[in-house]
Amino acid sequence: MTTRHFPDGFAFGAATSAYQIEGACDEDGRGRTAWDLRNHDEQGHPTGPVGDVACDHYHRYQEDIALMKQLGLQTYRFSISWVRIFPDGVGRLNAKGVAFYDALVDGLLQAGIRPAVTVWHGDLPLALDRAGGWENRATITAYLAYAQFLFDHYGDRVKTWYTHNEPWCAAYLNDYPLPRQLSIAHHLLVAHAEAVRLYRQSKNGDGKIGIVLNLARQYPASADPADVAAARNVDGFLNRWFLDPVLKGRYPADMVERYQGFGAAAPILAGDMEALMANPSDFLGINVYSRGVQKADPDNAFLGSKDAPDPRSVYTEMGWEVAPESLYDLLMDLEATYGTEIQITENGAAFQDAVMQDGVVRDDDRLAYYKGHLSSVERAIRHGCKVTAYYAWSLFDNFEWGTYEMKFGIVHVDPVTLKRTVKKSGMYYRGVIAARGIEE
Ligand code: NOJ
Repeated sequence: MTTRHFPDGFAFGAATSAYQIEGACDEDGRGRTAWDLRNHDEQGHPTGPVGDVACDHYHRYQEDIALMKQLGLQTYRFSISWVRIFPDGVGRLNAKGVAFYDALVDGLLQAGIRPAVTVWHGDLPLALDRAGGWENRATITAYLAYAQFLFDHYGDRVKTWYTHNEPWCAAYLNDYPLPRQLSIAHHLLVAHAEAVRLYRQSKNGDGKIGIVLNLARQYPASADPADVAAARNVDGFLNRWFLDPVLKGRYPADMVERYQGFGAAAPILAGDMEALMANPSDFLGINVYSRGVQKADPDNAFLGSKDAPDPRSVYTEMGWEVAPESLYDLLMDLEATYGTEIQITENGAAFQDAVMQDGVVRDDDRLAYYKGHLSSVERAIRHGCKVTAYYAWSLFDNFEWGTYEMKFGIVHVDPVTLKRTVKKSGMYYRGVIAARGIEE
């Protein structure tokens, strides 16, 4: 067996997001998001899975920091709830919400854990949502005022910032027609560029800022040129539509043409692309879970593709193929095409598991997932990729946007008692961090 070491300076962490773990939705002046209305009756009582309590992190953050320390985490990626800071999205500031994140940031620093903050992770203030959300350019203005406050207030202590989490999901996981989806995507990208500008101009702008994209390496099902074209189209739709504007200041020409063929175009105003070009990020954050395999499909008019899953593969509870090699390939492609610093801001897997009578959660499938992916990261670094951080998704079993059945945690959270139990995968990760390497 060989121990493969990660370079000095490489940071190991775990990630969460506000609505998925905090709970305390009605406390200390927090405003409303659209998520607060889902699965609730008119009296506000839950009718299905909701984030009202989630992991109760809002009340247990001190215990949770102690747990992170026990795991040896060097950094913790979390998001700030916009409506705890500005309950109406804009205007009135909520001092109690501000104080909560002060206590969290200070507690992390005291424990020797570097805070890394996502400005927006899917929980848009209800007031902005009702006014059109990210389709409305006014949301950019509101977001920038919120981001500016965060940079000014927390930026003396927080030195890693992520503007948005997964703009592809925000833009496309809905039933809207393409032009509306492109408008959401474009406004998110412009807001990102303008936030980078604000950060650099802010008094605390000596840290690093980037965006978090969900990427999946696409493979053709065969060497047939039609399959190769199908994989390239999905890559354009999912990956390059966001990578190119952020890292090259332009949309990919093949996809612009494809969208035009369907009567859709990004609503670009004068100055938008210039803002993207003029405000490069310090790094690229990537959330990676799986890969795609594409076959040509003439019935799919837009992308000409269909998924061709490999029946021999292992799939997680989400139905996502376990494909650690694809993370290596993706990293090598990103290095070749963009050459930028990369942080793996999320990587992990949902599998069913339970605390056994001896108190142990034997999540060997999740452990194997981490081992395979960490090995790909280490190998990509050895082969020239500038990967500087890795965050396990997720620290906790949490609210997976509509369900508690999808368990991504390296720490089990009992749904009734909320007791935290480090899983076998968490113990494994602790060992990797302590050794700063993996056994192969
Ligand atoms: C991506 C998202 O950022 C996070 O919110 C979600 O829980 C995980 N992936 C798993 O689906």
